[in-house]
Amino acid sequence: GLPAKVTIYEVGARDGLQNEQTAVPTDVKAEFVRRLLAAGLPIVEATSFVHPSWVPQLADAADLMAGLVDDLGDTARDLPVLVPNDRGLDRAFALGLRHVAVFASATETFANKNLNRGLESQFEMFEPVVARALDSGVDVRGYVSMCFGDPWEGAVEPEQVVAVGKRLLDLGCHQLSLGDTIGVGTAGHVKDLVAAFGAAGVGPERLALHFHDTYGQALANVHAGLQAGVTTYDASAGGLGGCPYAKSATGNLATEDLVWFLTGLGIEHGVDLSAVAATSVWMAERLGRPSPSAVVRALA
Ligand code: HMG
Ligand code: MG
Repeated sequence: GLPAKVTIYEVGARDGLQNEQTAVPTDVKAEFVRRLLAAGLPIVEATSFVHPSWVPQLADAADLMAGLVDDLGDTARDLPVLVPNDRGLDRAFALGLRHVAVFASATETFANKNLNRGLESQFEMFEPVVARALDSGVDVRGYVSMCFGDPWEGAVEPEQVVAVGKRLLDLGCHQLSLGDTIGVGTAGHVKDLVAAFGAAGVGPERLALHFHDTYGQALANVHAGLQAGVTTYDASAGGLGGCPYAKSATGNLATEDLVWFLTGLGIEHGVDLSAVAATSVWMAERLGRPSPSAVVRALA
């Protein structure tokens, strides 16, 4: 049967806002994060400590987190943030943050475009980050991008994804988030990829699935993930999102679509759907365009 309970890992404030053309003021981002927490989302990824000229949309990461710490104390220190390298981890440590994520690529081309590193040398960048974080009692999530296809390289074999994922687990990441960065994956592919991890000794309890909805397959893919025993799903309020360094990446699976779907299956998630949808409508007004989520539009 399907799992009784699922954890929704909200990425709207990070994956969503990193790709916006409009500059979102820091206080609006902080309000977005507070509203997402108030809607019952158990994990709210807040921002990235990446190079400010690579992702100018998140250049205010330190200000945002300092303000949230002032406001929410330890609750804010528990919000995960992306850190690609030692410099990023230093910036997160300076604020006493306790959950970080590194992000690897399953392909050579995207490693170069997103991290300015090759497939092999990306691990040299992550190794000290994960080691230092674990030494300080900070846990590290490991993302793998381009798990279902790459806009430059085409098909990506499950074995290649498993090899990259296992290296992140071996460094000490507690969870792997398998990213369909450009949203080309299908349910059969999800089944095969989770099975390939299983065959390599990595069970579904170590995995999260991160879908972008480019081809409208994200919920079907979640269903395949549930059938394979995966219980953590990344989603973005209102379906915001994309990756500035991935050609053709569109929005993430909308949190509202995921919540509606899980509720329909009787799967526990703990999220207040109308509160998330109201938050997405509020954010859409600030961004000046409607949410792409069908559920948000139906509820509005
Ligand atoms: P680089 O240019 O190779 O960096 O960029 P470097 O190590 O050579 O350093 C150059 C300068 O940058 C130095 O300053 C560093 O201090 C500074 P200088 O000495 O010249 O004055 N620097 C930094 N400053 C602030 N914060 C930092 C930092 N690092 C270096 N962290 C780097 C390499 C990794 C930094 C760059 O490529 C980068 O920032 N990339 C981030 C790209 C990104 O954020 N992409 C989106 C997230 S991934 C995604 O969305 C996919 C995901 O959602 C899953 C999915 O959908 O598949 C996760
Ligand atoms: Mg993403």
